[in-house]
Amino acid sequence: MPASKPVDDFDMVVFGATGDLTLRKLIPALYHRFRDGQFGAACRIIGAARSDLTDDSYRARASKALQEHVKPADLPADTLAAFLQVVFYARVDGSKPDGWEQMQAVFRNAADRVRVFYLATSPDLYGAVCKNLAAQNLVTPKSRVVLEKPIGHDLASARQVIADVGCVFTEEQTYRIDHFLGKETVQNLLALRFANVIFERLWNTDVIDHVQITVGETVGVESRGDYYDHSGALRDMVQNHLLQLLCLLAMEAPLSLAADALRDEKLKVLRALKPIAPHEVSHQTVRGQYVSGAVGGKSVDGYQKDLQAGRSEKGEHAPSETETFVAIKAEVRTWRWANVPFYLRTGKRLPEKVSEVVIQFRDVPVAVFPREAGDIQPNRLVIRLQPEEGIMLGMMSKDPGPGGLRLRPADLDISFEQAFSLRYPDSYERLLMDTVRGNATLFMRRDEVEAAWLWIEPILDAWKASGDRPRPYAAGSWGPTAAIALIERDGRTWHEKLE
Ligand code: BG6
Repeated sequence: MPASKPVDDFDMVVFGATGDLTLRKLIPALYHRFRDGQFGAACRIIGAARSDLTDDSYRARASKALQEHVKPADLPADTLAAFLQVVFYARVDGSKPDGWEQMQAVFRNAADRVRVFYLATSPDLYGAVCKNLAAQNLVTPKSRVVLEKPIGHDLASARQVIADVGCVFTEEQTYRIDHFLGKETVQNLLALRFANVIFERLWNTDVIDHVQITVGETVGVESRGDYYDHSGALRDMVQNHLLQLLCLLAMEAPLSLAADALRDEKLKVLRALKPIAPHEVSHQTVRGQYVSGAVGGKSVDGYQKDLQAGRSEKGEHAPSETETFVAIKAEVRTWRWANVPFYLRTGKRLPEKVSEVVIQFRDVPVAVFPREAGDIQPNRLVIRLQPEEGIMLGMMSKDPGPGGLRLRPADLDISFEQAFSLRYPDSYERLLMDTVRGNATLFMRRDEVEAAWLWIEPILDAWKASGDRPRPYAAGSWGPTAAIALIERDGRTWHEKLE
């Protein structure tokens, strides 16, 4: 892998330091960047949480997390020890105005350098933590704040969070993470579209019939019951990850990769999404909830039971109406995309963990081959984002050999893993370093967040007004049968798993 470019020295405070995200994703990502030499011993990572820990006991937790989430070969003892020396701990409840003595001590006489405040906390606390940071005079002109999704629960609450954070940090200092944008393969969509001429000329309604975006997961709700049940697949995945993918696929070429140039183009796509009217919601969307079934040959419980186990408050709860699967037919009202539906689907407990985009081309205009030659299947470009990243172009070719001209589909298949044989850095590695570098290209601007909610909210409202429950689907299936009907009604089919 080419050497990474060192970043300037920084201090990064991670609120929610004992939480799952920090230990599973952020600490390992920072470790990898440290190991690569992108930052050194002069930097500081300061875990902040309410637990009564010391630098040493927090280092022990960080070390355990690294042993769980980093391959042993990538974790030599001396590098691990050196990394732990840049990790510190400050006990504080970020949402309370007092008890900031340890954090104050961390920054007493600190150098005037980049300061990143990463809020890996419940989003309800974003406003309060920012207010307290300001009250404690910890926010310097070189400070940045990083916010995890979800930003709000609907448009009004998103605007409130944006306004509360905005009282302390300017838009330029605010980094709203959508970790999908940090995935190498998602950035590769930009390369594919704008570093090649062959696709871009075909990227429109003249030759594209429709687009499919699938993000399937095999996991269930796990230990995130409290969060997930208030969220559901539409808020958790579609409002951010799937719509961001759609933006990268549908946008016009940006003027440059400067943050605002790219985000201006994504925003236009979000604003061009045709609102789904209340009476169309039952026709254009499907929501489901998994019931027990088998994933990968293993029997698993349904959502209601998983939820009991994954909630912090045990006891009797009314049956949950939260969706764990969504399928949507979306339309982008631009000249480029007129009459090209975008079918989106995502869910938990699906048969496989897969993220892929399918660009389905139109039929050939005129059949010149005799019927006996066989059916002509339209071309299909499949972009696999994970796992086994690569692209595949489905084409028709002549079946070799005698016996007349027979046609058969043949795939041009490029596996990026084989082509480049690299470790794919985790999305957080890139994004964390971008916050230090001050590069906001892969972060969501406030107007994008709002535009996404503006499109999502009527769907949520219509679901609520209908009083219908999500449709059950067996764990290990591709969602409710209504999701199949959603696309088949239009004479199309979901792309089957790549064999
Ligand atoms: C998160 C969602 O943003 O993305 C999770 O909150 C989901 O519910 C996860 O599992 C999927 O991310 P990845 O990187 O594993 O594809």
